[in-house]
Amino acid sequence: MLLLLLLQVSASCLWLGQGEVVTSFERSCPQFFFRETPPNEALEPESPVWICQSYKNQHYFATLYDQERRIPVYSAYLYQPGPGKRPKTWLVEPQLMGSTYPKTMEREWTLLKYFNVSLEQLSKSQAILQDYKNLTGLNRGHLNPSGHHHNASSRTATFTLTNIVPQDAKLNGGAWNNYEQQTMMRKTQGCNTTYVVVGAVPGSSSIAKGRVNRPSHLWSSACCEVDTKHRKAWGVIAENDRNEVELLTLGELEEVLSQLYGREKVSLFDSDCPRD
Ligand SMILES: *[C@@H]1O[C@H](CO)[C@@H](O)[C@H](O)[C@H]1NC(C)=O
Ligand SMILES: *[C@@H]1O[C@H](CO)[C@@H](O)[C@H](O)[C@H]1NC(C)=O
Ligand SMILES: *[C@@H]1O[C@H](CO)[C@@H](O)[C@H](O)[C@H]1NC(C)=O
Ligand SMILES: *[C@@H]1O[C@H](CO)[C@@H](O)[C@H](O)[C@H]1NC(C)=O
Repeated sequence: MLLLLLLQVSASCLWLGQGEVVTSFERSCPQFFFRETPPNEALEPESPVWICQSYKNQHYFATLYDQERRIPVYSAYLYQPGPGKRPKTWLVEPQLMGSTYPKTMEREWTLLKYFNVSLEQLSKSQAILQDYKNLTGLNRGHLNPSGHHHNASSRTATFTLTNIVPQDAKLNGGAWNNYEQQTMMRKTQGCNTTYVVVGAVPGSSSIAKGRVNRPSHLWSSACCEVDTKHRKAWGVIAENDRNEVELLTLGELEEVLSQLYGREKVSLFDSDCPRD
């Protein structure tokens, strides 16, 4: 039974898998970026991992993961909201342990039971559910939220811990939620396609005995194509210890992020997206 399952899984990876931990978004899942152009290197951490987030053999969004801090740097996706239930299952990224593991997100339980993986081995490669237990004033904050997707698979795919940061609970349920739901709906009126890049600035504290970084800020940015000639863009930023979201132009957000990350100038979208 087990052998059969393993054979099936490895066969499906060989034939259908598109890859998941990849060497470049441009090559493996460019469709989640406006003009197939990911943000520039100014956001890259010391241990970056590029993940084309794959569920049931399909790519749903892209995440740049910081394997040292065990949080995402950013997730990039298309805004396609729709009605539906919030998923309940939490998933992890097998390939952060090595390329021989499945190319699709899995439950911790599945890896432990069918892939001879120990929880210790898994926890060395990424944040696990245990890290998010027992938090006070913080909870699991999605970068790419499930509510921005229109079917059960695309919503479930956002429930991977590689898309999650420790977020201030009041902010997550308050002003940030309000931005995700109301503000996004209002700002995307008339948009044909809306590309989103949403991220977290690493902070100086952590949770889970230092295992998982607690970001100092969360930010989000959008580039909307109204038609082939017209585009609009915007950004927001929030400190991760107060219930407040600040609305900015894309140019202003990039400016603030350049200061916060302290490296070269940050560029989130191709230059065809308006900065003012
Ligand atoms: C399972 O993993 C352990 C430790 O990594 C190893 O010693 C053992 O041989 C593995 N068993 C199988 C069936 O692969
Ligand atoms: C979680 O919190 C409870 C009560 O505050 C405590 O008894 C328990 O040891 C904590 N568990 C972990 C894993 O920190
Ligand atoms: C869900 O939506 C995606 C597009 O976002 C589509 O590719 C996929 O086939 C859909 N899945 C189902 C089960 O409808
Ligand atoms: C909207 O986007 C779709 C798919 O990208 C495209 O086929 C269509 O021409 C676009 N419509 C307008 C008005 O730009």
